[in-house]
Amino acid sequence: MSILEVKNLSFSYTGQTVLKNINFKITEGNYIALLGPNGSGKTTLIKILLGLLQSQKGKIILFGSALKKFNAWQNIGYLEQKANTPHNMPLTAFGVVRLGLLSTKKGLKLFNKEDNKKTDAIMKKLHCYSYKDKLFSELSGGQQQRVLLARTLINEPKFLILDEPSTALDSSSREEFFEIISALNEENKTTILLVTHDISQVGKYVNKFLILDKQIVFYGSKEDFCNSAEVTEYFGPYTQHLIDHLHTTGTCPLPHNHGHNCGHNHGGEML
Ligand SMILES: Nc1ncnc2c1ncn2[C@@H]1O[C@H](COP(=O)(O)OP(=O)(O)O)[C@@H](O)[C@H]1O
Ligand SMILES: [Mg+2]
Repeated sequence: MSILEVKNLSFSYTGQTVLKNINFKITEGNYIALLGPNGSGKTTLIKILLGLLQSQKGKIILFGSALKKFNAWQNIGYLEQKANTPHNMPLTAFGVVRLGLLSTKKGLKLFNKEDNKKTDAIMKKLHCYSYKDKLFSELSGGQQQRVLLARTLINEPKFLILDEPSTALDSSSREEFFEIISALNEENKTTILLVTHDISQVGKYVNKFLILDKQIVFYGSKEDFCNSAEVTEYFGPYTQHLIDHLHTTGTCPLPHNHGHNCGHNHGGEML
């Protein structure tokens, strides 16, 4: 089943072209790492897919419907890069998670017992139940991120879009965070589009790479990407560095062709 199709998409902020002729398709069950240097248009692309920004050119199809007609938003979970959290509102962690249910409510209905049960359940699953009654604004960055993930997952979305979700997490929370996400992909077949710079931690879970630098530099399977070192000159320094990094961290299996430098230590620098 096709989850998302993007056709001939281009976008400019006043005067500055940020995305040029983007074409790709995501089918059900894939776990895709969306990678690219800072400013390469990743967040902009995501906002366009969700109808939060309007592109000047191109077509977007979500779950088989044109974006303009699409209304099953409860099927999509989105964790923003700079989460639009109610910092000024005195909401508890529980209150923030429960807000995730709003997209399923028609009109101004109040939350009921069932909603509270659902909220408790997802908070237990994501290990943030112990601070459910604390004010969201008083939680640590990592705790807030867990609460926001719980809010994103409460409707059990079929398509999950995460924009640099691990930035506020320490390295052990990061590992746990990515394990939770990958379990959703493995067990529930949740389709995932993940923007991250933690590719050494997450590379083992994803099955596709989408590399963006205003245009699509690469879109395909992890194996094809790992074996494409020969053409990295065309890819540019970001992608060259990424491939080297994937080899040194063991995310990419050593290719059959040993003609290039993989396997050697290129510094193992974090991307
Ligand atoms: N609201 C905006 N107005 C004008 N330019 C923007 C805006 N948001 C982002 N940009 C610019 O668009 C480019 C892509 O940004 P963004 O999509 O946030 O990149 P990424 O998420 O890959 O780091 C950058 O050059 C950024 O400065
Ligand atoms: Mg971004």
